[in-house]
Amino acid sequence: MELIDANAHGNVHGGVIMRMVDESAALVAIKHSQSPTVVTARVERFDFLAPAFIGDVVSVHCEMRYVGRTSMEVGVRVVAEDLVTGETRHIASSNVIYVALDEKRKPTPVPPLVPADDEEKAIIERARTRHMRRQKIDEELTQTKD
Ligand SMILES: CC(C)(COP(=O)(O)OP(=O)(O)OC[C@H]1O[C@@H](n2cnc3c(N)ncnc32)[C@H](O)[C@@H]1OP(=O)(O)O)[C@@H](O)C(=O)NCCC(=O)NCCS
Repeated sequence: MELIDANAHGNVHGGVIMRMVDESAALVAIKHSQSPTVVTARVERFDFLAPAFIGDVVSVHCEMRYVGRTSMEVGVRVVAEDLVTGETRHIASSNVIYVALDEKRKPTPVPPLVPADDEEKAIIERARTRHMRRQKIDEELTQTKD
């Protein structure tokens, strides 16, 4: 990370990390959907777990966790490495939801997510549970709107 990315104490700004996450996870969504246009619909959570500092090399690890009809949930783990000491730190985690759009900018279906093994099956199942919970909460919020 560079000077411009950080505050006076050398801590990298949260917004810089968030931008890296959104840009990286969007690439995963574009690749899966085979659609050039995906939009960020929701950042479900964003946890900053430890600081990153100027000079750290920050890497963003993404995995597709759930695919609905047109939406995709990408799980993200951000790691900072001090190249001198070799120390690595898990600095942030997030779940970002993207929607693929067609040429008229309408949501368009994406290919299903096929698990390669039982571990991936479990990841998808947990994400499906989150998806259902999210829908229920959204419905409740819509009903209570004035
Ligand atoms: C995201 C967006 C395309 C959804 O449009 P919409 O007309 O509400 O679409 P639909 O109701 O048909 O929903 C389409 C899918 O998106 C999902 N979705 C829509 N809004 C969502 C939200 N806020 N959070 C999570 N999922 C959402 C729906 O669950 C549905 O998923 P599914 O097809 O897998 O079942 C629209 O709200 C939008 O364009 N938002 C702005 C995006 C943007 O500018 N992002 C920042 C820059 S990239």
